[in-house]
Amino acid sequence: MTEQALCQKAIDMLDMAYVPYSHFPVGAALLCRDGTVFTGCNIENAGYTPTNCAERTALFKAVSEGVTEFTDIAIVGSLDGKKNTLVTGPCGVCRQALYEFCGPRLRVLMAKSENDYIETTLGDLLPYGFGPANLE
Ligand code: THU
Repeated sequence: MTEQALCQKAIDMLDMAYVPYSHFPVGAALLCRDGTVFTGCNIENAGYTPTNCAERTALFKAVSEGVTEFTDIAIVGSLDGKKNTLVTGPCGVCRQALYEFCGPRLRVLMAKSENDYIETTLGDLLPYGFGPANLE
């Protein structure tokens, strides 16, 4: 799977986002080590705090299906009517949730479009991250 194709899968998820409160759709596509992809969108809630981010939707879909090894995640966010115009970095909670399974080497593609994205790593986004190894 190319980086462009992974970004496109995240972009496709913008249409699935449930965002009646923020009107800020986010899409994510998580590439597993075996080559499969789990996608996610943000799902908001009238109680606000139960809102689930796109990245964690994708992660929890994968883990709940028994998949726990990942190499890349693509993330895209947009404002209503201005699709794919923003680079969205994962929130702090999602960085921590991803760190549990992916560690610092996960590649993170923060996309504006299929061909326009910033590439970084989870280690850069979450330095000195706290993970399973800290509890060994
Ligand atoms: N959001 C995500 O889905 N991922 C992020 O990493 C940033 C924030 C969502 C949560 C909420 O539904 C909306 O964007 C505005 O915060």
